[in-house]
Amino acid sequence: MNAHTPSPSRGKPVDLDAANETTKAAHQTTLLSPRFYTTDFDELDKMDVSSVREEWDVLISSMRSDPNKGHFKRTEEWDDITLDDVPVELRTELVDFLVSSLTAEFSGCVLYKEMKRRGTNKDIKELFTYMSRDEARHAGFINDALKDFNIGVNLGFLTKAKKYTYFKPKFIFYATYLSEKIGYARYIAIFRHFEKHPEKRFHPIFKWFEKWCNDEFSHGEAFSLLMRSNPKLLAGHNKLWIKFFLCAVYATMFVRDHARPEFHKAAGLDIEEYDMRVFEITNECTKQCFPLTMDLEHPAFLPTLRRMNQLAVSIDDLTQKGGILNKIKKMGLQAVVAANFVRLYSIPAKTNELPEFSKMVPAW
Ligand SMILES: [Fe+2]
Ligand SMILES: [Fe+2]
Repeated sequence: MNAHTPSPSRGKPVDLDAANETTKAAHQTTLLSPRFYTTDFDELDKMDVSSVREEWDVLISSMRSDPNKGHFKRTEEWDDITLDDVPVELRTELVDFLVSSLTAEFSGCVLYKEMKRRGTNKDIKELFTYMSRDEARHAGFINDALKDFNIGVNLGFLTKAKKYTYFKPKFIFYATYLSEKIGYARYIAIFRHFEKHPEKRFHPIFKWFEKWCNDEFSHGEAFSLLMRSNPKLLAGHNKLWIKFFLCAVYATMFVRDHARPEFHKAAGLDIEEYDMRVFEITNECTKQCFPLTMDLEHPAFLPTLRRMNQLAVSIDDLTQKGGILNKIKKMGLQAVVAANFVRLYSIPAKTNELPEFSKMVPAW
């Protein structure tokens, strides 16, 4: 996992002058989002990859060779930066981006490490050893960036304090697979953007995204193979679940990105264009294993996402105001959000014929 769909603490500015308060806020954001997962590790341990053995062995051997071993170290490419160097209006959202990215990376690390610890299946154990290794590096690298701002997050504390959400293994596959691929798409889209507009790159960490996202790409490759080795997961009524996860993940990302206007403004990124680009890349990636993709060109797709975002803004507003009347209003709006989600879900998906092999290369 990675800085997939980081979730900002919308609307609540962090008092960045008071170190203690900032740390508290960093923790608070971290505690609210993104989630930590747990699953049925015994069931997961029973996965049999023999039907995709050849592709599996190639992937595992590339992970074993550890191509990014030396990547997550600071070099002369790193420009020293303190919070004072960041424009005031950008500070809250940049810190928020880093903290929620860190949480997402660390969430993957915790889940994968647990699978590695509990597993007895050699294939599963080895895969999760490499993936937890990568996510630990990713999380550590972001935490170092936060420490430059004197607001490093206590990861040991997080592991204990954070609430864990239980997901059946198949839901872990859909959610984590998507999270890895969308994470790849987000990182590479940001990296390519700053390649064209280096003057807009307001933090050195973005220079690391190109090789970084290859880790996420190969994590996604592994989940694709795990699902393809168990084709039932990709057929029948499970198609409905796949579509559900696609809608949920895309809508969440759209709403969360819109809650970070200063961040995107400073980067020179149009949020809608950026999100659509990420959806396009993710759609292309998921053709390796999902039997359907979302129809991004459908006339209802973008308008429905826009409505969901407007509703999220209004709900946030009511939450800030508080009071019983606003609570009732909020419940009304939440029902409208649900109706819009149904609308999104009802957009006919595009059928996808699975290719003979799962393997893809990170070509974006
Ligand atoms: Fe990952
Ligand atoms: Fe990661």
